[in-house]
Amino acid sequence: MTGPDGMTMLPSAFARLRGLLGDLDPPPGRDLVPLHLGEFRRAIPAGHLDALSDAEAWSRYPPLGGTAELRAAYRRWLGRRFGPAVGRREETIAIEPTPGSKQAIAAAVALAAGRDRERDGARASGPPRVILPNPFYPTYLAATEAVGARPVFYPAGPAETEPGGGGGSAAAAIAAALRRAGGQAAAAIVCNPGNPGGEILSTATLRTVRTIAAAAGAVLIVDECYTDLGTTTVPPGFLTVVASDAAQPPGTAAGGGPFLVLHSLSKRSGAPGLRSGFVAGDAATVAEYAAYNRACGVSSPPPVCAAAASLWSDDSHVEARRDELTRIWDLADTILGDLPGYRRAAAGFFLWLPVGDDEQTARRLWRRDGLTVMPGRYLAVADAGGNPGAGHLRVALVHPEEVMAEALSRLRSTLTRPLACPKPVRNR
Ligand SMILES: Cc1ncc(COP(=O)(O)O)c(C=O)c1O
Repeated sequence: MTGPDGMTMLPSAFARLRGLLGDLDPPPGRDLVPLHLGEFRRAIPAGHLDALSDAEAWSRYPPLGGTAELRAAYRRWLGRRFGPAVGRREETIAIEPTPGSKQAIAAAVALAAGRDRERDGARASGPPRVILPNPFYPTYLAATEAVGARPVFYPAGPAETEPGGGGGSAAAAIAAALRRAGGQAAAAIVCNPGNPGGEILSTATLRTVRTIAAAAGAVLIVDECYTDLGTTTVPPGFLTVVASDAAQPPGTAAGGGPFLVLHSLSKRSGAPGLRSGFVAGDAATVAEYAAYNRACGVSSPPPVCAAAASLWSDDSHVEARRDELTRIWDLADTILGDLPGYRRAAAGFFLWLPVGDDEQTARRLWRRDGLTVMPGRYLAVADAGGNPGAGHLRVALVHPEEVMAEALSRLRSTLTRPLACPKPVRNR
């Protein structure tokens, strides 16, 4: 596939996985367990979705910008989650609903790239640069390539962070990427907590990243869609940094540039089908996103707004999910804890597991165990040191405990078995 400027766009990780496994049959008579996709397979608690059955409401065009009830629910949640100052700071932190965070990431990158092109109309230094982690959530790269911008990667992953604090090396890595981009970028993307590694960046790191992104003229896009799935610690939010800097006497806090923080119900509430999230950012950047989405994007229908307001207003279902996730990680510790390189993630439901050959191992797990897992190389691109995702599997711990216990036992059994002569890999 070719994007603008003749850049080659990779097929999606899911398409590559289908190609990888397409010539193999799973074992007959075994329950197939999909572990390649980050969707927490649990019913949404009764009551939250009642509004969806309001047939009359579906016959109306969605209100642009959501409902007042939904916007108030965002503010209350921001206040509960990141401190009252964040919920109150309407002049510093603007909000706008999004149809999930995927589309918002793509729109934010496109808008930032457009702004960069305008700013540097006469510049001969090539396409806008977008700074992104590697490995990454694939939309970061797809969105960059779709608008003919140039990705400049920084290493992401467990080695970059200390769960619950530290993480200074992540800021250093982003600073180095910005230097490689020539000191100026259209956007810089940070995923906190990370996907696939589940690493958590500290408040200090977020503050440093804010300063260096501003110095490079970059819109800082902070993807916090896993923020409520910290199982070892509560991940800090970027908006806490913004609110606390705004409360300092003028001239004492390091300046910040344009920013957008992305939140979503997909992981927090396990409701990816609802396509509901929001962005929070500085007034100008949110206004630009809102103008774009209201004219060219997707607004949420009133029943979705009502369901979303109900979910953002309730923390008990999120606590129950987090408790269950903690028990599943305990299971993983017990079943896989002694495998070389096993590491419990600080947040989220992805196990990022070192294996020999990630593609061959994914094929074995499908053929022998009926498990689908994501080869790490599909979530990264090669840099000077090779593909940092290669040799890893991303395993989504998203099923009920009894299903996970069975699936992880199968995984262990295959990973600890000597490798038989592997079949050749086709369709790549
Ligand atoms: C890091 C990250 N950001 C964004 C998304 C997109 O989520 P949404 O369903 O809100 O579009 C995902 C989904 O897997 C993700 O892992």
